[in-house]
Amino acid sequence: MSEEQTKIVIAIDGPAASGKGSLAKKLATKLGYDFLDTGALYRRVALNILDAGGNVENQETSTKAALDFNENLDVKDLEDVRLRNDEVGSAASKVAQVPGVRQALIDFQRSFAQKCETGAVLDGRDIGTVICPNAQIKLFVTASVEKRAERRHKELQSRGINATYGNVLAEMQERDERDAVRLDPHLAPDHKVDVIDTSDMTPNEVMDEALKIIHSRI
Ligand code: C5P
Repeated sequence: MSEEQTKIVIAIDGPAASGKGSLAKKLATKLGYDFLDTGALYRRVALNILDAGGNVENQETSTKAALDFNENLDVKDLEDVRLRNDEVGSAASKVAQVPGVRQALIDFQRSFAQKCETGAVLDGRDIGTVICPNAQIKLFVTASVEKRAERRHKELQSRGINATYGNVLAEMQERDERDAVRLDPHLAPDHKVDVIDTSDMTPNEVMDEALKIIHSRI
């Protein structure tokens, strides 16, 4: 077996608050693989624009911010706690619609997967279709929009952030609409994914299910 083949790439896609991020992180830790939260890249580009007082809906501004960020990319920039705010998530889904932004971030994501020692777990929206279409494992982690809004609402409450469930749900639906095109499995020919619907599962059950799938595939 060549060195290339011994490296395992696990692509995890799915909508916001589906549980894909925590699953990806836990899998990477358990398997000793490198981990990249690709949503953080889009969030960082959006936050850089917001910090500079720019407009995330302006395509030129967004593309320029993504190119600048890409040139000086340091993974430490992805640890800023402000990246987790919902306003930043929503702004990220706007900049992510701009083709120039997506293009600017492709190489970093692909080379992250290629450079890993033994394996890499990447989570996002288009990992299995566009970024790593040859990934050995492709998981699609999802849940009903109501469940996802409920989780996000609880999380906000636990952080002392005031928001009604109705508002969180409406924002989630809006974000889903913007992200729908990126989650289209038809973006890749012969795209085969294992779907995990986490609506009625605990995080431990999701992890067990993912490990079962991984062990059956490699
Ligand atoms: O996953 P997360 O909620 O952090 O992503 C923030 C936004 O970034 C998403 O709503 C989506 O619009 C965008 N994104 C993307 N492609 C990815 C990861 C995230 O378009 N691979």
